[in-house]
Amino acid sequence: MQKKLRSTDWFGKSDKMGFVHRSWLRNQGYPDDYFTGRPVIGICNTWSELTPCNGHLRDFAEIVKRGVIEAGGFPLEFPVTSLGETIMRPTTMLFRNLASMDTEESIRANPIDGVVLLTGCDKTTPATLMGACSVNLPTLVVPGGPMLNGRFKGECIGSGSFNWMVKEKQLVENYTAEDIHEAEVGSARSQGHCMSMGTASTMACMVEALGLTLPGAAAIPAVDARKKVMAQLSGRRIVEMVKEDLTLEKILTREAFENAIMVNAGVGGSTNLIIHLLAIAGRIGVPLTLDDFDKIGSAIPLLANLKPSGKYLMEDFYYAGGLPVVIHELKKYLYNDVITVNGKTIGENNANPICYNREVIASVEDPLQQNAGIAVLRGNLCEEGAIIKPSAASAHLMQHRGKAVVFVNIEDYHARIDDPLLEIDENSVIVLQSAGPVGYPGMPEVGNVDLPEKLIRKGVKDLVRISDGRMSGTAYGTVVLHVSPESAVGGTLALVKSGDWIELDVANRKLHLDISEAELAERRKAWTPPTPMADRGYVKFYIDHVQQAHLGADIDILRGGSGDTVTRDLH
Ligand code: FES
Repeated sequence: MQKKLRSTDWFGKSDKMGFVHRSWLRNQGYPDDYFTGRPVIGICNTWSELTPCNGHLRDFAEIVKRGVIEAGGFPLEFPVTSLGETIMRPTTMLFRNLASMDTEESIRANPIDGVVLLTGCDKTTPATLMGACSVNLPTLVVPGGPMLNGRFKGECIGSGSFNWMVKEKQLVENYTAEDIHEAEVGSARSQGHCMSMGTASTMACMVEALGLTLPGAAAIPAVDARKKVMAQLSGRRIVEMVKEDLTLEKILTREAFENAIMVNAGVGGSTNLIIHLLAIAGRIGVPLTLDDFDKIGSAIPLLANLKPSGKYLMEDFYYAGGLPVVIHELKKYLYNDVITVNGKTIGENNANPICYNREVIASVEDPLQQNAGIAVLRGNLCEEGAIIKPSAASAHLMQHRGKAVVFVNIEDYHARIDDPLLEIDENSVIVLQSAGPVGYPGMPEVGNVDLPEKLIRKGVKDLVRISDGRMSGTAYGTVVLHVSPESAVGGTLALVKSGDWIELDVANRKLHLDISEAELAERRKAWTPPTPMADRGYVKFYIDHVQQAHLGADIDILRGGSGDTVTRDLH
C-alpha cells in the first residue's frame, strides 16, 4: 500500500487549518485537484543573480515543474540561501552550513513529499544535499551544468583555471591589460558553472556517482537542450520516487559513498569533495572517515583528461561520453548493485556507454595515471590528518625537505610575499596559518597561494605549500591542505616558525615538522589562542560550533537528522 502523503497533513484536512493551508495557496491559481492526493514536489532553488553559475536555474525550475505536472504531482518552488563562489566574502564555505540549515528547515516545515535540488556553483550542491539528508525525503538532484568552454586567442581556457595563471602570465609572458581583459570576457561566456573539473563539476559528478541524478546528468552543458530534457525527466521521476518512497537513506548507503570516492579519483576531482562528502555522510548517518578517501580512492587510475589535472574541459568531457563512460570503465572497482534515483542500479544505468574520444576519457587498461586519488598525510604537523592531490602536484616535490617560510595569516602573506628581501627560494616550504574553519573563519580556498614574483621570474613553477585552508578545485600545485587540527585551535601548524625544517613524503603519507619534542612542548606552552573573528550573529555561532576539517567542517549540532516530522501545527 502506498504510504500516506506527508502533504495530506496540510491539505487533506477538513477543519479550519485545512482551510488556511489551501486557501492562501489558491491565490496563485491552483485548481481543486491539486490539493487532493497529488504528491507535492518542493523545487529547492539556489538561483540568484549573485550566484552567476546558477543564474539560469529560475528557468530550469519551470522545466522541472513541467515534468512534475505531467507525472501528476504538484510542484512548489522555494528559494534557499545561494552561495556565489566568486563574489561572497570572506568565503562561501563559511555559509555552506547556513544554507544547509535553511534547506533542511524549509523542507521539513512545508507540505513537501519529495524534493528536487537545483544546484550548480560549488557549495550549492553539498549545502542543499546536507540539509535534505537531515530530513530524508525522496530527493533528486538536477545539477545546472557547466558553461561552454572558455575561449581566448583561439584556444580553450578554463573558467576558474586561467585566473590562477594571471600573475605568471603578466610577469613572464608580458600579458597586457588588453590580453587579460580579453581572457576575462572569454572565460565565462555562457550560463552554467565552471567548466574545468573544479569543485562544481566535481560535485555534479559526485551526486551522479552517489546515484542522486538521472544517469548522465553531470556533464551536460547548462545551455545544451539536453539539459532541459534532463530537468523535465527529473520532474517526472521525483513524483514516482514519492510513490515508491525512495528516500535518500535508501540510496546513500556506505557503498554509494565509496563509489563517489572512486569516481572522484577517476575524474581527477577536487579535494573539496572530501570535506563535503564527510559532511553529507555525517548528516545521513553513514560512517566515513578521512582515511577512507586514501584507502578507497588512492589506487584508482585517473581517466578523465580534464583541467586542472589535464588538458580538456567539461564540454569535451560530455561530447566524449561523460561520466557514464568513467563509471563503466571503473566497474571492476565499484559497487554496481547500488540503487539510484531512477530505481535502477548504477551498473544497469551505465552498462553500455560509448566513448567517443579516448584522448579525453582514457580506458582503465591505459589510464592517464595510476593511483590518482587523494593522499591523506599524517605526522606531527597534522595529528588528525591533512591531504594532497597528487594528480595536481609536481612529481619532483612529492618527496621534499625544505625550510618553512611562515605567514601568520593571509594579510601577512599579501604584505610580504613579494618583498624582495623575503628569504625564500625554490626549496622553501610556504606555511600559511589561520586559514582553517575557526581561524579565517570559514576555511577559504587560499591554500594554493601564488608564488613570490622573484621566483616566478626565475621560472619556478611550484613550491610546497601547507595550510589549514582549502584549495579551489580548479587549482593545482604541490599544495598540502585541510591540516587538522587547524592553527587557530592550537594545532601544531600554529607552532611552526620560519626556518624550521619540514619534510613531505607523499609516498609514505608523511608530513613532519623536524624539531625536537622538547622544543615543540615549549612552543605549545607559550601559544595563546587568537581573538575570535566575531562576537555575534551567525559567524559567532559558526566559530563556536564548527568541527575540524577531518570531520567535514559541519556544525556539531547539525550532524545527523531529525526526519520529516513536525509535531505542532501553526495554530
Ligand atoms: Fe561557480 Fe566556479 S565560480 S562554479
